[in-house]
Amino acid sequence: MQCSWKSMVLLALASIAIQYTAIRTFSTKPLSLLCSVGLAPTGHAVNCSLRDLTRLGQETLESSEQGCDEILPQSPSSPSISLPSYNANKRTHILILATTRSGSSFVGQLFNQHPEVFYLFEPLYHVQLALLPRLAQSRNLAERRVMLGAARDLLRSLYHCHLSSLESYIRPRPANHSTDKLFRRGASLSLCSPPVCEAQLGREGQSLVLSDEGECVKRCGPLNVSLAADACRAKRHAAIKTVRIPQISDLRALIEDPRLNLKVVQLVRDPRGILASRIETFRDTYRLWRLWRATGRRPHNLDLGQINTVCEDFLRSVSTGLARPAWLRGRYILLRYEDLARFPLQKTRELYRFLGLVLDHSVKDWIINNTRGSSDLSSRQKFTTVRDSAANAENWRVKLSFDMVVYTQTACQPLLELLGYKTVYHPRELRNLSHSLVEDRTFLPFF
Ligand SMILES: *[C@@H]1O[C@H](CO)[C@@H](O)[C@H](O)[C@H]1NC(C)=O
Ligand SMILES: *[C@@H]1O[C@H](CO)[C@@H](O)[C@H](O)[C@H]1NC(C)=O
Ligand SMILES: *[C@@H]1O[C@H](CO)[C@@H](O)[C@H](O)[C@H]1NC(C)=O
Ligand SMILES: *[C@@H]1O[C@H](CO)[C@@H](O)[C@H](O)[C@H]1NC(C)=O
Repeated sequence: MQCSWKSMVLLALASIAIQYTAIRTFSTKPLSLLCSVGLAPTGHAVNCSLRDLTRLGQETLESSEQGCDEILPQSPSSPSISLPSYNANKRTHILILATTRSGSSFVGQLFNQHPEVFYLFEPLYHVQLALLPRLAQSRNLAERRVMLGAARDLLRSLYHCHLSSLESYIRPRPANHSTDKLFRRGASLSLCSPPVCEAQLGREGQSLVLSDEGECVKRCGPLNVSLAADACRAKRHAAIKTVRIPQISDLRALIEDPRLNLKVVQLVRDPRGILASRIETFRDTYRLWRLWRATGRRPHNLDLGQINTVCEDFLRSVSTGLARPAWLRGRYILLRYEDLARFPLQKTRELYRFLGLVLDHSVKDWIINNTRGSSDLSSRQKFTTVRDSAANAENWRVKLSFDMVVYTQTACQPLLELLGYKTVYHPRELRNLSHSLVEDRTFLPFF
């Protein structure tokens, strides 16, 4: 058998990917799966019969520990069973599917502030760091599969409050289920308040506010992962924000898992706004764009890759969502960041209605304190970042040059049309902020 070095590596990567995605349910037959995911090494096609795959499917059903009784009618006459059920008491798992600088921290707060929601800010950061430190550059399909397989597996564990699954990705590896290296731990209220953290934070035992993220880390000491898992189980719902899942179809296996009851909030933003914000934030990666803005001349070697990726991922996901496939029924809502910035309370109500959750007053208070509605000076100082992100959804129009806007909107034309973002044809139109570039559109969830 002629096996090149490259195909061995590919095979190794592929088998890791398969283990992550499949080993828990398909533990007896990991190899025969090679065919179904199309990763059999070239020239050595694995024979897969339909019978094999059917048998694997049956094993999945049989081996799932619990929850099947939830979806499989015991007898044809039992009337109470529906597929899947939308019981208000059922634990709901929320995923905020976003990209960097699209307003995802703001949307995360809409759940973080809810006393009955256990919220995690970007846990997949650790997966990426452990598996693919250079992923930002990697377009390698096999690497992407490994990362996504691991990401899905971890998400599933986290929603089930198996927080220890995260430990294998944290460096250095936590000892005794205790770590001070959890990424942005302070962004999660649950991880900064009792019983996870008993330290008195804020005045008079007031619960911690987000601006004290650093203070949480300082005062709470290392995170006791076992206590965090207890806190997760004690809350009725769980929400996770991530910018590390490219497309909605990457989540299909989780969405179709009836035990998970996963609902996805896909957050989108005008790519011209994302670009402007990234240029400010990721100064190295977007160095050439800054050069363009400063000199007025487009650098020859400008890399459109990042912005193309945003537009392609959005386009694919949104097209999938708007096509209303059965597997997304009741599980997908599209949210334009600009709409949230303009009508924060109304949009939040719509989100909660879709999720079937009660909008708590602490969420409403947080919105009022942190959006344009607020005139409170102290809260303005505290929440500058968040506040600005809501108030300045369209400020890219004064930050990008007209040429940069034209260049970007040309690359992203189909997406702009799909999402209702208007193209500009003249600098005057771009800078005239009383002329909105966001068309009124309603993207209703479907049930
Ligand atoms: C972990 O716990 C054991 C037993 O309590 C203790 O001996 C050990 O020093 C702890 N390790 C660390 C790194 O704290
Ligand atoms: C974490 O909390 C558990 C439960 O209270 C406790 O038994 C354990 O000792 C704590 N771990 C550390 C490292 O403090
Ligand atoms: C909103 O602001 C008021 C006044 O500053 C403060 O008392 C309250 O705790 C804040 N609420 C939230 C949820 O941030
Ligand atoms: C700005 O846009 C508004 C609304 O479209 C329009 O009425 C106004 O004339 C524009 N102003 C300029 C200076 O173009």
